[in-house]
Amino acid sequence: MNKNRFTRLGFILAAAGSAVGLGNIWKFPYITGENGGGVFVMVYLLTVIFIGMSIFIAEVVLGSRVNKDSVSTVETLAPKSKKYWRYTGFTFLIGVIILSFYAIVVGWILNYIVIAATALPSSVSEAETVFLGLLKEDIVSQLIYYTLGFLIIAYTISKGIKKGIERLNNVLMPALLIILLCMFFYSMTLDGFHQAVEFMFYPNFEKFHASSIIIAVGHAFFTLSLGMATIITYSASLGKDVNIVKASISIVTLDTLIAIVSGLIIFAIVYSAGQEPSKGPGLVFITLPAIFYEMGSIGNLMAIAFFIALAFASITSSVSILEPTVMYLVERRKMSRTKATYGVSAFFYLLGVFALLSNTNEFSSALTFGSKNLFDWLDFVTAAILLPIGGIFVALFVGYIMDKNVVREALIPFMGEKFFAIWLFLIKYVAPLAIIIVMLNETGILKF
Ligand code: PHE
Repeated sequence: MNKNRFTRLGFILAAAGSAVGLGNIWKFPYITGENGGGVFVMVYLLTVIFIGMSIFIAEVVLGSRVNKDSVSTVETLAPKSKKYWRYTGFTFLIGVIILSFYAIVVGWILNYIVIAATALPSSVSEAETVFLGLLKEDIVSQLIYYTLGFLIIAYTISKGIKKGIERLNNVLMPALLIILLCMFFYSMTLDGFHQAVEFMFYPNFEKFHASSIIIAVGHAFFTLSLGMATIITYSASLGKDVNIVKASISIVTLDTLIAIVSGLIIFAIVYSAGQEPSKGPGLVFITLPAIFYEMGSIGNLMAIAFFIALAFASITSSVSILEPTVMYLVERRKMSRTKATYGVSAFFYLLGVFALLSNTNEFSSALTFGSKNLFDWLDFVTAAILLPIGGIFVALFVGYIMDKNVVREALIPFMGEKFFAIWLFLIKYVAPLAIIIVMLNETGILKF
């Protein structure tokens, strides 16, 4: 066994650790709230099953064929006359741009563990003051926690796949699952639980618009860590004998279940406190802390557990965002892992500092360009434009460029002819078209 490769279980936990992140526990509940619940959840599930799952499988096929960094992977699999496709392997750079704002949110979460353990805000308006105070005024606290988060992420990556990433996920993922399960069982005892179930599974078309479909498609990519070479890089550890279809289905199912369970927990708490689910991004940082306070000492415990779970989920995702770049530098540029890790981290850490400052009152005007500040630009450009492009590259490469026989050999033993034909249809036509529509809409070229 190569000492720098995941074990099979290690791979599943690490890929699930990548997929399960802020997207599941923070974003999914609030976009579900904003888009009316049941119908949105249905559309999201369909998108995950038909588009997300098929691209996920395609990325695992790529990674597991070559066992190298993403650029070498595409280069090796491209036919002789189309080696220029290797440049699509550079989508890992998108990930590192994402990291520079994702890590800021990791910092907020670490800070909220301390707030949960010491002084929860006693009302929604106080909670708003606390959160906005942190975001807009408290540069020092934000920098301290952001730096701490970045150090944990960089340290893990510097230790390599087995001793760093696999070990981290082996501990944090089971811990995350246990915390969420405990919270879930508790939330089932709350008065608001049946309302939460109704909200998430009962079709309500009132707040559902065509744009909700677009949001669901975009979120399916983000939540499954697609379009930026993360899954390709992690799958480079897999041998050809591994049932990659089964592994992909397990990871996608776990990711989806965690999003649904997080939604049920959060909405059960929100309904029990007589609040509304449509609170937007502040749901987790403003609404929840105030409700936890009202719940008394059990609320304190839940708050600590909740933010620890969120920290674990976001750290395992952050690590997976950095690894593809480091893997590239180590394999292709022959850099040492330590040098590659700290070099890349330092660069994006600095970019993140500017993004962090762009949210503050003091620096926002200097760091706002046009309609958005730097933080929002980084988020917008990566999620709305770059990630979808990364997704299209994968679909086109696997669907049209790569040797059909290699793709068939990789999948037929694990899915049979019939499902292979359906998968290929999704990869060649459905996924690229759906992504193009999302991109045109999010960039405002085509507005629903
Ligand atoms: N999937 C992660 C989440 O849901 C985010 C992520 C995106 C991680 C892309 C890796 C690559 O939060």
